[in-house]
Amino acid sequence: MTWDVTADLVVVGTGVAGLTAALRATELGLRVVAVTKTTIEDGNTRRAQGGVAVVLPGASGITDISDSVEAHVADTVAAGAGLCDENAVWAIVAAGPAAVTTLRARGAGFDGGAGELHRTREGGHRAFRVIHAGGDATGAEIERALAGAARGAGLPLLEGQPVTDVLFDDAGRVAGLALLGGGVLRARAVLLATGGLGHLYAVSTNAEVATGDGLALALRAGAVTADLEFVQFHPTALYAGHASRGRQPLVTEALRGEGAVLLDITGAPVMTGVHPLGGLAPRDVVAAAITRRMAATAAEHVLLDAMHLGDALLRRRFPTVYAACMALGLDPACAPIPVAPAAHYQCGGVVTDLSGRTTVPGLYAAGEVARTGLHGANRLASNSLLEGLVMGARTAEAVAADLMSLPRPGPPLPCCLVRPIADRDAVQQAMSAHVGIGRDAAGLTTALAAAGATSPRPLRTARDAEDAALTLAAAAVLAAATARTESRGCHLRTDHPRTAARWRRSIAIVLDDAGVPVPAASALVGGAA
Ligand code: SIN
Repeated sequence: MTWDVTADLVVVGTGVAGLTAALRATELGLRVVAVTKTTIEDGNTRRAQGGVAVVLPGASGITDISDSVEAHVADTVAAGAGLCDENAVWAIVAAGPAAVTTLRARGAGFDGGAGELHRTREGGHRAFRVIHAGGDATGAEIERALAGAARGAGLPLLEGQPVTDVLFDDAGRVAGLALLGGGVLRARAVLLATGGLGHLYAVSTNAEVATGDGLALALRAGAVTADLEFVQFHPTALYAGHASRGRQPLVTEALRGEGAVLLDITGAPVMTGVHPLGGLAPRDVVAAAITRRMAATAAEHVLLDAMHLGDALLRRRFPTVYAACMALGLDPACAPIPVAPAAHYQCGGVVTDLSGRTTVPGLYAAGEVARTGLHGANRLASNSLLEGLVMGARTAEAVAADLMSLPRPGPPLPCCLVRPIADRDAVQQAMSAHVGIGRDAAGLTTALAAAGATSPRPLRTARDAEDAALTLAAAAVLAAATARTESRGCHLRTDHPRTAARWRRSIAIVLDDAGVPVPAASALVGGAA
């Protein structure tokens, strides 16, 4: 079936970046269609707890240093372990206040109300600059506001429509999207805002939709990707037992920002002597320290002691965490919370400029799926909602400008729906065992074999489409992780434990002629695209 939508822009994904872009593009007069494989409610944005990292002028902080854009940039660069693109960091951080103002005008309410907003700290932040909503339900409030604004603006939204391919015309111009089941959306520009790939792993904090779809679409469309080896593990997912698989509830870093302490199962502090920021060290440092302590104590988790906050404050300030704990029969006011690291965020992705343009004209990316250079080798906490807000709007503006000169595409050519697909469970087990916190050459080879044990199959179901994306995403992450023979940020190689100056550059991954992800001949230098 062909929907002759003839949109200017099709946005794939309805999280913070996708809806911000769709709304801004609509304001600019573009005909926009948004498409999602599930429903607008099912995305990852709404699971974000901590908040938005932003320096708001005039707010008084509960801190002994005055905050500034410079300080936020410095913290982002320090967390990024030598691979941030400082131009990107400056541009995105400096645009934060205006992006938050726009979001509030669209109806999002942050804690603290009409006056000064309440702010907290998270890992890697040296100042109280993370604003939040509903206590620990920031993503849910942002998603509610943006979805409401999109409905109010009459944005056409196709739900339950997995995308299988970016389509091109016979001159190689982006011409739209192929939908599972045979539908075609014609468009002059395509924006991927599909989020990340947490479900490459057996345990993740991500919504079930995070299956690397956008990364796979972009690779197949010929786009350059980078920094894929830097999969960030959140230090504190709620540990629900040995057999737990799939999405696990997040236990926000903001709890540590409010004084909660990480202990091992013997009661010894985990972070003492590890980093000057202690429990609020950057996320890669905390996750690695927890992993080491779990190994040393032969335990599958550590403990987060938040009891000092007391029942009333825990319920009011952290209602999401409180409810998740109580659902496990655990009262966080009376007992420490069992926590363990879980796959959380894709720091790299589809290489874009600071306007969301990929290396393929007419194809754009924003949000977690994109690699702007903001995150480097390890994302600073709560910089992702910030990036989605800023880059969503900037990308819409770039599309509007580009469409003035981009030639109108011809009819889209058909695509082939047969894909190599590996067994999802085998891939997840192998990625968790060998491509988590602590990797070596032998383990990476084992994981590559699991991801490479494919059979070509036609895509018939939404599950097939996800499995094909996971298969390709796994191979791409493995190509990057194998190539980087050092430890840096989220990429911890036990066989190359040191950081090497010669590796202070990003590794670009593209598909070769056989459709296999490989490092590009010219790697990106100095973290800059
Ligand atoms: C958290 O609330 O701990 C997660 C925030 C983030 O991933 O940026």
